[in-house]
Amino acid sequence: MPKKVTLPEIQKKKQDGVRIKMMTAYDYPTAVLVDESEVDIILVGDSVAMAVLGHPNTVSITMDEMLHHCKPVARGTQRAFLTADMPFLSYHTDERDAVLNAGRFIKEAGMEAVKLEGGLRVIDKIKAIISAGIPVMGHLGLTPQSFTQLGGYRVQGKTADVAKRLLEDAHALEDAGCFSMVLELMPTNVAEMISQNLTIPTIGIGAGPGCDGQVLVFHDILGLFDQFSPKFVKQFADLKVPIKQALSEFCREVSKGKFPGKEHSFHSDDPELLSFLQENKNATKN
Ligand code: KIV
Repeated sequence: MPKKVTLPEIQKKKQDGVRIKMMTAYDYPTAVLVDESEVDIILVGDSVAMAVLGHPNTVSITMDEMLHHCKPVARGTQRAFLTADMPFLSYHTDERDAVLNAGRFIKEAGMEAVKLEGGLRVIDKIKAIISAGIPVMGHLGLTPQSFTQLGGYRVQGKTADVAKRLLEDAHALEDAGCFSMVLELMPTNVAEMISQNLTIPTIGIGAGPGCDGQVLVFHDILGLFDQFSPKFVKQFADLKVPIKQALSEFCREVSKGKFPGKEHSFHSDDPELLSFLQENKNATKN
């Protein structure tokens, strides 16, 4: 059994200058594959709404749907640290809702931490969740659950004013006790400045190489989701091609009667069965 990645180990990586690797997973087979890699943190992101469930954005996913995806990921993970995204409106109403919903990820779905979008505006909820003993990862910059307010999926922190606010938010998250935070879609120099000002690790996506770690979406790196492909996504493989080839080969072999062959079929030599089959060989239905 591989040794579990722990929170202190993740935090020590920043001190040691070792980059943290985080990857999304939304189901059992993916979790097994990701867990067998060197990824430190598996994130069951609300990006599942777009990458897997066909929604146009992340706001429609519910608590129950997130839990449904977290459970098989937990079953498939032996080593990586498990973090789940709290969906839109599961932590915005009040502290009680936030703690109870965060607790469901731990109690019902086998997760080890939760991730929430926002800084000072959700700080009371973050403090309440941490007080309940649940580790929290923050998320600043482009926060996709508020894409309408932000005017779309745009780079954040391009002016001194916004960069200053991002730094204040980052300090607030660190002071509240977050163990790390995602920095999404912001200029490299802003993400680098925030990372250098914090003792907790930052994990970047579209925030350049100055963060303490990097995260990408599983389906993006494998070319399995290309409804839109932002500049920051690197496709490390194009699995669409071998998948499409396998599907057309299946169709061709079924059409030609080549599949299933003997090696994929079952046979019985039971004498009674053979004589029953012989009797019924040419029987037609009345
Ligand atoms: O939902 C998600 O996958 C995320 C990452 C992209 C950081 O929040």
